[in-house]
Amino acid sequence: MTGAALRVGVIGVGRMGADHAQRVAHRIANATLVAVADPDRVRAAELAAQYDDVRVFADPLDLIADPRVDAVLIVSPGFVHEEQVLACIAAGKFVLCEKPLTMDAASSLRVVEAERAGGRALIQVGFMRRFDPEYAAMKAMLDSGDLGRLLLVHNIHRNKDVPAGFTSEMIVRDSLVHEVDVCRWLFGEEITEITVLSPAPTSYAGEGVVDPQVAIFRMESGALATTEVFAKSGLGYEVRCEASAERGNVTVGLGSGVFVRAANAWGGAIPDDFRARFATAYDDEVQAWVDASRRGVVVGPSAYDGYAASVVCEAGLESLASGSPIKVVLS
Ligand code: NAI
Repeated sequence: MTGAALRVGVIGVGRMGADHAQRVAHRIANATLVAVADPDRVRAAELAAQYDDVRVFADPLDLIADPRVDAVLIVSPGFVHEEQVLACIAAGKFVLCEKPLTMDAASSLRVVEAERAGGRALIQVGFMRRFDPEYAAMKAMLDSGDLGRLLLVHNIHRNKDVPAGFTSEMIVRDSLVHEVDVCRWLFGEEITEITVLSPAPTSYAGEGVVDPQVAIFRMESGALATTEVFAKSGLGYEVRCEASAERGNVTVGLGSGVFVRAANAWGGAIPDDFRARFATAYDDEVQAWVDASRRGVVVGPSAYDGYAASVVCEAGLESLASGSPIKVVLS
């Protein structure tokens, strides 16, 4: 592709899809929002009406097949990602697929194999933390070698609240999956074993939901990573990561932005959810995807990264059920 803007179609226009649609329409260079698809046609039409010349599809496969759509941003629920990503591969279209790539290891492997069989990399997976300026600076600092070998990572991932019906399994597959990718990326190694523990539950936990959870990853080198995940902390959206290396440590997510003194109190604000905390990361992720797609290449987290995360999460679900460490075996 040469000078023309990338014509982007967005599939799934719920919480995150509406956010991505607005980003493509208003903040991303060299991209145009041309279509949206959602089985909730009313929601899709209402969203499309906010922008000029955006076509509406009830069937996402029709959007993918439309020759006027160059590339596809998949923001539908995880259980329909496989069919939609496979359709993008068949159509030869670049795709940015929100996490999780698919719901389990077998389906993620089918996606990796289909992309390989097509002979061309087309898939970026929405692990946006890699594009967050703080995480990117942490990664660069660790990679410089100045701090010595990375030994330990400690993550905190607290959601203030989650939609009704959010289950214990979704805490692993939809929330912890971010730390799975962060740790594979920071260490540059695979996770070989995962343990998911069930501490004393918060009284905000949904009926029968194990909330919070604590996960322990064992890396290939023997290094360890811990993660505390809350579905409902009640407090605000908090994501922190501290990496401990031989000659120093690096922390991101302290939220030490604007500092206010007012009403007999001092301090800063805690965002409500990921859309505020990671706004820049999402912008940079989508811009990188658009730029790469226009050049005909893929950057960022690959289909294989999505597959590896699915394998780790599947083992994590087994550990959540049994309380025992589970080995992670990649194909
Ligand atoms: P949501 O429930 O708010 O919205 C989902 C939308 O998809 C709804 O409009 C629904 O009608 C539509 N939908 C249902 N079936 C569909 C189908 N077969 N094809 C197309 N659309 C369909 O969900 P949310 O929170 O927007 O999540 C969507 C995706 O984004 C999920 O994969 C989720 O894991 C991911 N996500 C990623 C985040 C990140 O930080 N990277 C943060 C939040 C969500």
